[in-house]
Amino acid sequence: MKKTLRWVALWVLSCLPWLPAYAQMSSGAPDGGGHPWWQHAVFYEIYPRSFADSNNDGVGDLRGIAAKLDYLKDLGVDAIWISPCFPSPQVDFGYDVSDYENIDPMYGTLADFDFLASEAKKRDIHIILDFVVNHTSDQHKWFLDSKSSRTSPYRDWYIWRDGKGPGQPPNNWVSTFGGSAWKFDPTTDQYYYHFFYPEQPDLNWRNPAVKDAMFDVTRWWYKRGVSGFRLDAVDTLFEDPNLKDNPIRKPGKNAFGDPFEENKYNGKLPEVHDVLRGLRQVANEYDAVLIGETWTADVAELNQYYGKGNNELQLPMDFLFTMVNKLSPAEFRKQIAAVDAASGWPTFVISNHDIVRSYDRYGDGKHNDQIAKLMAALYLTLRGTPIMYYGEEIGMKTTPPTRQEDVKDPIGRKGWPKEKGRDGERTPMQWDDSENAGFTKGTPWLPVPPTYKTHNVADESKEPDSILEFYKSVLKLRHTNSALLNGDYKAINESNTNVLSYLRVYQDQAVVVSLNMTDTPQNIDLELKPNGFTSASGLLATGKSAAKGDQVSLEPYGVFIGELHK
Ligand code: NOJ
Repeated sequence: MKKTLRWVALWVLSCLPWLPAYAQMSSGAPDGGGHPWWQHAVFYEIYPRSFADSNNDGVGDLRGIAAKLDYLKDLGVDAIWISPCFPSPQVDFGYDVSDYENIDPMYGTLADFDFLASEAKKRDIHIILDFVVNHTSDQHKWFLDSKSSRTSPYRDWYIWRDGKGPGQPPNNWVSTFGGSAWKFDPTTDQYYYHFFYPEQPDLNWRNPAVKDAMFDVTRWWYKRGVSGFRLDAVDTLFEDPNLKDNPIRKPGKNAFGDPFEENKYNGKLPEVHDVLRGLRQVANEYDAVLIGETWTADVAELNQYYGKGNNELQLPMDFLFTMVNKLSPAEFRKQIAAVDAASGWPTFVISNHDIVRSYDRYGDGKHNDQIAKLMAALYLTLRGTPIMYYGEEIGMKTTPPTRQEDVKDPIGRKGWPKEKGRDGERTPMQWDDSENAGFTKGTPWLPVPPTYKTHNVADESKEPDSILEFYKSVLKLRHTNSALLNGDYKAINESNTNVLSYLRVYQDQAVVVSLNMTDTPQNIDLELKPNGFTSASGLLATGKSAAKGDQVSLEPYGVFIGELHK
C-alpha cells in the first residue's frame, strides 16, 4: 500500500466492529426531483491558507475565496467546505480553535465572511464550515479558565484527572499525533487529556454545558447563512469515564515511537451518536447538511453514522474508498457496491488535506493526467455526493518538503524522517504560470510546486484536452443528465479485471460508464441486452475511446460515458 493515509491508518485499524443500523433514505428539503439539495450538489473543499491570497501576505483568505467564486461556479461546484478559518494559534493550522464565533484576522473579518456568504448566495453556492467538535485550542477562553483552578466553573468542560503516581499519566492512552495523550499542568497538579496535540485539549462532552455551548455555535453560524458543517474528528468525542488502559494491537512502535494501540476506550463510544442526533435536530431547523469525518472500518460502521432512520449525519465520508490504493476494477467494484448498499446516501471523496493526493496515489508516473481524468469520471458519476479537494481538478501533485527545516506541519516536524507530515497536499493553488502560480505576490506560506508551469487554471482553461476541461465536462453532464442525477447504480461486466463498467439507470433512461484501468487498449462487450438496451452512444470520452453498438473500445486509461438506447 502506498503511504496514503499515514496516521489516519493507525486510527482506522483500531476501529471496533459495530452493529449495523438499518434505516430509511434520508429526508430533507427536496429539490425539483425529490432530493434534498445536498444530494445533487457537488462539494469542494477549500484549504483557506492555500487557495487565494487577496492581501499578499502569503496566506490565502476569505476575500481571495470570494474572488474565485466565478471560477468555482463555472467548474460546476455547488457548495464549498472551508477548512477552519476561525481565530486560532494555528498549531494545527486552524484545527485548534480559540473562538468559534469569529474569523481569524489572517483570513479576514466577520464582514469579509458576510461578503463571501452574500456573493456565494448570488451564485447559488452553499457555504459549509468546519466544526472542530472534539477539542478547542489551549488558548480558548474556556480552557484558560478551566486550567486556572480546580474550582473554575469551566473545570469540567475538559477532561482533568490525577496521575497514577508522581510523573505517571492517568492511563496508557497515546495521542494520535505522538506521545502520551495526557499533559501535566503544574498549576493545579492534574493532567488534561488531548487526543491530538497538547495544544488541542479535548472537550468534555459529558458536561451538558459543553453540549449547549457547542450546539449554540452551530445556530450562530446557520443564522449567518451557513448551510452546514463538516464535523471534525467525531469518532473521538467521548472517552471511557473509568479511563481503562487501551489494549495494544500489535507489537512494535509507530512513526512517533509509540505503541500500536487499539482505541477501545477512547474512540467510537456509543455516546457519540447522542451528540450527532442532537446536532442533526438543530441542522434540520435550517435545512442544513452535516458531513462527517468518519474513519470507518467497514460499511456496517458507516451505517452507524447515518443513524437509525437517518437521524444523524447525512454525509458521513466513506474513506474506505480512498483506501482502494491501486487501479483495480475488482476492488473498486467491491467498495462501490458496499457503499451503494449502505443505509444512507453515499459520499465519495478521493483526496483531502490529510491524505496524499489521488493524482499521486493512482498515477503511474507516465499516464498521470489520463488517470486523473479516469478517477474524476469514476467518482463524479457514481450515485452519491462527491466532495472534491481544491487543485484536484487541475492535477495538482503532492509535493512534500525535502528538508526537515522546511516542514510546517507539526506531525512532520515530530515524525521526521519517517513521517513527513501533510504539507505536500496543502501547497498553494496553481492559478497561472506567473510567479507563485498567481496565488500571492508575497512569499507563499508553503512553496509552490514546480508543476505549476504545466498544471494551472489559466493554461488548462485554454486546452480542450486538459484535466480541468474534463472535470468541467463531467460535472456539466452530472448536473444535467437525469440518469446520473437520480439513477440507480448497477455493476456490469463484473468479471472483467481490466475495465470497470457500470450503469446508472433512471426510469427509461440509462448511462453507461466504462473505465479502462490498464495501460493497454481494451475492447469490451457491454452485454446490454440483459439490461434491456441494445446500443450506446457517446456522451463524453477521452481520446479515441468510443462505442459501436454494444462494443466499446477504450484507450489506455480511457474513459467512455455513453447514453443507452433500447
Ligand atoms: C482531522 C483534520 O482533518 C486534521 O487536519 C486535524 O489535524 C485533526 N482532525 C485534528 O483536528
